[in-house]
Amino acid sequence: KGMFTYDPGFVSTASCESQITYIDGNNGILLHRGYPIEQLAEHSDYLETCYLLLYGELPTKAQKEEFVKTVTHHTMVHEQLAHFFNGFRRDSHPMAIMCGVVGALSAFYHDSLDITDDNNRQVAAFRLIAKMPTIAAMSYKFSIGQPFMYPDNSKGYAENFLHMMFGVPCEPSNVSPTLAKAMDRIFLLHADHEQNASTSTVRLAGSSGANPFACIAAGIAALWGPSHGGANEAVLEMLEEIGDVSRIDEFVARAKDKNDPFRLMGFGHRVYKNFDPRAKVMKEAADDVLAELGVDDPLLAVAKRLEEIALSDEYFISKKLYPNVDFYSGIILKAIGIPTSMFTVIFAVGRTVGWIAHWHEMISGSYRIGRPRQLYTGHTQRDYLPLDKR
Ligand code: CMC
Repeated sequence: KGMFTYDPGFVSTASCESQITYIDGNNGILLHRGYPIEQLAEHSDYLETCYLLLYGELPTKAQKEEFVKTVTHHTMVHEQLAHFFNGFRRDSHPMAIMCGVVGALSAFYHDSLDITDDNNRQVAAFRLIAKMPTIAAMSYKFSIGQPFMYPDNSKGYAENFLHMMFGVPCEPSNVSPTLAKAMDRIFLLHADHEQNASTSTVRLAGSSGANPFACIAAGIAALWGPSHGGANEAVLEMLEEIGDVSRIDEFVARAKDKNDPFRLMGFGHRVYKNFDPRAKVMKEAADDVLAELGVDDPLLAVAKRLEEIALSDEYFISKKLYPNVDFYSGIILKAIGIPTSMFTVIFAVGRTVGWIAHWHEMISGSYRIGRPRQLYTGHTQRDYLPLDKR
């Protein structure tokens, strides 16, 4: 194929070197800076994992305290930013709002435009990690016509997010530790996943020297699609459409039908050809949350049965299609009371640290502008015809 290697979808092209995350898709292994995701999910927390992804090592007690304090310091957004929301329709999809508002952060924090200064880059990272939950909760509050909640910095990261989602100024929120823990785990399990579509987008945007807020907005746009982060929302919609265990066979048959574009959402992964290790942890977390909350959701029965059927079906076995992380996260989020339209926003909040860690890794090393080539399949050269000759 001429001078270029042709690799649509980049299935066998490494676009960069990275020291952040390792995935062995055949064996279902995911390591952040060498630490297995299962250990991080059990013993660490989201902000500590953020530190690990950004700086390469687990923090000491003092470093952790300092990091949490610094990030927490940045949770509020500029008051002027709140006016942005009024420009949107109330029924806007929150991801549409996120693309716009996060991109607009570079209009507020001018120091981020000079990315040659390492301090500016770090402050941008703190600001993004800190402000994403605030902006995410604002996009929800706007959609239901409730006042925005200011962050409460006495609360932990995930607890604060739920406080801003569900609290109202006249009634203090009461976030149970179980829910805060589950939310923190969801953020942690989404924190990074090497060169997925959105992270690659952030790197490509960043390779031109664009500012970090603009790059993260590009990542949010790439995440939105149903093949990527939008899958968690699509899973719930699919479970609702199936509605009852008796209809599962019909949907499985559709997923297998080559002439039907329908896919089982939450199944399959480009890299994992074995159980997604995040899905394993998420499944356990889902069981814990549902047991503790005493939720008896009929959709859960559909999800469980669907998983059983798919895992024992020849089509799914031969194509190595296992449930992915998004299959179970939706069930937890639903139990917590998060509306479906916010699911992908929550993925974006968790993934922000991964995006910024990759951006930072690239900018701090030597890099060139990303510029893929193509195989041209259009017309050969031809002469312009005047209108009266066409
Ligand atoms: N249901 C039915 N068939 C499927 C599915 C599915 N969910 N996923 C893949 N296949 C089939 C597909 O039709 C193809 O068959 P064939 O070889 O006969 O043409 C084969 O499996 C390989 O699929 P592919 O589309 O070539 O694989 P890919 O690596 O390009 O796509 C994927 C990976 C995740 C986009 C895809 O599996 C999919 O669409 N899954 C459903 C959406 C989803 O759950 N996405 C979340 C991914 S995990 C979270 C994240 O990282 O964002």
